[in-house]
Amino acid sequence: MSEGRVTARGVAISALVAAEEGERANLVLPRMLSVSGLDERDRGFATELAYGALRMCRACDWLVGQFAKGELEPTVRAAARAGAYQLAFMRVPAYAAVSATVAECPSRARPLLNAVLRRIADLVAGGPIRWPGPGTKLSYPDWVLARLGEDLGAERALAALQQMNQAASPSTRPDGYIQDAGSQAVGEYVAGLLAGRPGPVLDLCAAPGGKTTFLAHGSPFVVGADVAPARVALVAGNAARLQLANVAVVVADGSQPPFREKSFAGVLVDAPCSGLGVLRRRPDARWRARPEDIGRLASLQGRLLSAAAPLVAPGGVLIYSVCTLTRRETLDIDKWTAGGLAGEWEAAPPPGPPWEPLGRGALLLPQAAGTDGMYVLAIYRRR
Ligand SMILES: C[S@@+](CC[C@H](N)C(=O)[O-])C[C@H]1O[C@@H](n2cnc3c(N)ncnc32)[C@H](O)[C@@H]1O
Repeated sequence: MSEGRVTARGVAISALVAAEEGERANLVLPRMLSVSGLDERDRGFATELAYGALRMCRACDWLVGQFAKGELEPTVRAAARAGAYQLAFMRVPAYAAVSATVAECPSRARPLLNAVLRRIADLVAGGPIRWPGPGTKLSYPDWVLARLGEDLGAERALAALQQMNQAASPSTRPDGYIQDAGSQAVGEYVAGLLAGRPGPVLDLCAAPGGKTTFLAHGSPFVVGADVAPARVALVAGNAARLQLANVAVVVADGSQPPFREKSFAGVLVDAPCSGLGVLRRRPDARWRARPEDIGRLASLQGRLLSAAAPLVAPGGVLIYSVCTLTRRETLDIDKWTAGGLAGEWEAAPPPGPPWEPLGRGALLLPQAAGTDGMYVLAIYRRR
C-alpha cells in the first residue's frame, strides 16, 4: 500500500486480514514474512505487531469503536487494530504509529483512519484508559474469564490471564529441543517417577514428541502413539533429529490402544485438552477455543485414562497431564480416577512448588513461574 514497498506494518496488516478470514496466524505470518524481503528487525516488529494485535484485538476494537462508528471494511479494520495496538500496547510514538499505519490503508479510508488513530493517541496520552471491564482490558472472550474465574477464583484467574498476554519466550532443552519450561517440568516429574522402574514407557498422546523425546533420554524404550498420522510423523522426525534409537512410533487411537495389558512401566496420557493454560502460545487460540469443547474433552480424557490404566504393569505408574486450568479437566478428572481406579492404585506425591496441590495432583499456574499452565496427576499401580 505504501507506494508498492513492502513494510513491516503492511505485512502485519495483511496477516490480520488473513486471520480474520479464518487462516491460522502462526502459519500465515511466517509464510508472508518469508517472501517479504524484510530484514530481521522489521520481521520482529511485524511479528510483535500482528500477534499482539490479534491477541489484544478485543481491547483494540474497543479503542477503535470509541471513535469510529459503523462497520469498517476488512483492511481498514485490520489497520485500525494495528494502529491501536502500537499506541496502547507497544508504546510506539504517536507520530510514527499514526502516519506509518495510515500509509498502509487504501487512500479513500486514510482520513477516517488518521482521525481515529489520532483520537486514540490522545486517549492513551491522557493517562490510564478506563476500560469497560477486565474482559476488554485483558482481551479475552467473556466465557474464558467466567470459566477460569469460577474454577480458580477471580484473582488467580485474572493473574493467569494477564500472564498469558505476555509473548512466550522459547526455552531450549540441553538436547536442543525447544519446549516450554512448564512442559519440561512435567517431563522432569515423569522421568523422576520412572527412575528405577525398568521397562518400556508408553506416551499415549505423543505428538509432536516433546515428552516422548524427553523421556527417551532416561528410559530404555519409549513408544510414542498418537491418533493423527501426520502428527505421528512429527514424533518420528523429532526422535530421528535427536538421534534417539530407543523411540518407536505408532498411529493408534488411545481410547482403544493396540497394546498388551500390564506391559509398560509407565504410561503417560498427555491428553488433548482445552488449552486454556497455553493461551499465550498461539495469538488466536483464545478466539478459537469454544466453551462446549471442555465437556467433550473431559469425557475423552476419561476414556483415554480408562484405556491406559490396564496397560500399566504392577509397580508401574500412570500419569495424566494437560495444559489447561479448568476444573473439569483437572480436579474432576482426579476425582473420577479416584473412584474408577481404586484398590490397587495409589497416588504418587505431586511435584512441589511452584506447583500447587490440586486434588491428588498439582497445578502449575502461568503466573507461578512465568511458564505455560499445566496440571499433572500420577498414580502407582501396586499389583
Ligand atoms: C497435548 S497434545 C500432546 C503433546 C505431546 N505429548 C508433547 O509433549 O509433545 C495431545 C495429542 O493428543 C492427540 N490425540 C487426540 N485424540 C487422541 C486419541 N484418541 N488417541 C491418541 N491421541 C490423541 C492429538 O493428536 C495431540 O497430538
